[in-house]
Amino acid sequence: MTSEFLDAGGFLDELKGAPVVAVVVIDDADAAVPLANALAAGGVRAVEVTLRTPAAWDAIERLVGSVEGMTVAAGTVTRPEDVIRVSKLGVDFAVSPGCTPQVVAAAADAGLPLLPGVATPTETMLGRELGVRTFKFFPAAQIGGTKMLGALAELFPDVRFCPTGGIDADNAPAYLELRNVAAVGGSWLAPRELIRSKAWQEIEQRAAAAVRLSETYDAAVSLDSSPASSM
Ligand code: 3PG
Repeated sequence: MTSEFLDAGGFLDELKGAPVVAVVVIDDADAAVPLANALAAGGVRAVEVTLRTPAAWDAIERLVGSVEGMTVAAGTVTRPEDVIRVSKLGVDFAVSPGCTPQVVAAAADAGLPLLPGVATPTETMLGRELGVRTFKFFPAAQIGGTKMLGALAELFPDVRFCPTGGIDADNAPAYLELRNVAAVGGSWLAPRELIRSKAWQEIEQRAAAAVRLSETYDAAVSLDSSPASSM
């Protein structure tokens, strides 16, 4: 890796008061801006458009810069070529379900902040060696949820996570109260079917409810700067 890695954690810190990222699957790019407007009306300030549909690219292009105050991330970025392509669309940062040296290097070379995903201590150590300090924790519910995050907090006091996967209005508070959780993400705010049916009011209500439940948590969690091994 020749360029310096850019951690995406700063974008999560900016969500203070509403540390929630709407993870969305968009089938029709026409839905992108109305969807983001509905999320924004509910108080959500970050959307991750996953690269899981052909329409995602066009949707991202339309979203970038179109809704004031909305951070736009590209998700499900799994290959270096995806990183390069989304960086050209002007997204704020990219999100990957995994953390390979190639994807991390591509993001650094593109000057694009990246939130790479991990599920285990070894992956966290590998990512940290590449300069990452903020990770997606995915798929959160399936890999041990809050208990696993609690264990990781003991091992990696210098690392923070954005858990996604199986998060919903009921369990989000338990994640948000963990000291190593910077924000939570998920599709419960704007499920694919609701986007398909243009249920903007329902999405706005879900967004507002998510913000209400998260606003008591301080998203800008402070962490020790030294790794556990040096303590
Ligand atoms: C992601 O990519 O972060 C997840 O697919 C979101 O998971 P969820 O649909 O269970 O919220």
